[in-house]
Amino acid sequence: MIPNITAEHQMAKQKQGVLIWEWPIRVWHWLLVFAVTTALVTGLIPDLDLMNVHTWAGMTVVALLVFRLIWGFLGGTYTKLRHYFTTPQQFVNHFRGLNNPAAHTSPGIVLAVSLLLALAVQSGAGLFTTDDVLTDGPLVQFVDDDAVEFASDIHDHGWKFVVVLIGIHLSAQLIYGVFLRNPIALAMFTGRKRLALPKTTFATWKALLIYVVSGLIFGLLLFYSR
Ligand code: HEM
Ligand code: HEM
Repeated sequence: MIPNITAEHQMAKQKQGVLIWEWPIRVWHWLLVFAVTTALVTGLIPDLDLMNVHTWAGMTVVALLVFRLIWGFLGGTYTKLRHYFTTPQQFVNHFRGLNNPAAHTSPGIVLAVSLLLALAVQSGAGLFTTDDVLTDGPLVQFVDDDAVEFASDIHDHGWKFVVVLIGIHLSAQLIYGVFLRNPIALAMFTGRKRLALPKTTFATWKALLIYVVSGLIFGLLLFYSR
């Protein structure tokens, strides 16, 4: 009887998966989704009344990226930056099924890093962007006109890269979930993936502290945007 129970227990555990995405990164992800969607919608609707909402959403993205960067050093086992390195060989091998199971797949790493960089450029440029009418990014006052023009040009076009990368991100969830019957999207809700790895470890106090630091950065940007 006992060996059977153990086997069943093992199978149940394997089905349940192991915790890879700790709660601070899941909360971060859903805040990011909300802030980026709001920034995109309010940026693209030509209504000056929405620009306030736009800059708030954009500054939230900046603060969240600061959180992600610091969490990349002090965060959970698999969300540390050193788990985000890959090679072209590993990228190709993923599609041939040759890679060992790991917390992040090689294409997953490429997409995550590209999305984070695109968001950093877009929101970073936003801080120095002006619409020449009513709205200035909070840091416009600290740089010369040429720099503002350069940042505004980047900001006026950079969002297209962000949209394309989000499109790829969502298509990947859809393809895995619907066609490959592997609902990977659930991992950002439950934090769990079906992998034979030890679960993530992290310090809650560090997460709370870094969220406070990000909040202060948001407050500082808000102060300068008045
Ligand atoms: C990831 C975050 C952000 C996204 C996705 C985003 C997206 C956009 C989009 C799509 C536009 C319209 C561009 C166009 O008309 O061609 C826009 C305009 C603008 N954004 Fe952002 N933005 C972000 C962050 C920010 C930040 C942080 C600020 C400043 C705090 C900011 C300030 C502005 C301003 C002032 C404009 C008007 C520019 C103009 O009329 O030429 N944005 N943004
Ligand atoms: C505005 C929309 C979205 C943005 C900007 C976004 C952004 C991101 C980023 C930057 C990551 C990488 C996290 C990291 O490793 O640090 C990520 C991962 C992830 N996202 Fe999103 N996301 C969006 C929408 C969604 C939606 C709607 C879902 C689910 C239905 C989703 C599910 C996931 C999952 C499952 C992962 C982990 C992927 C993996 O295991 O490699 N995302 N997302």
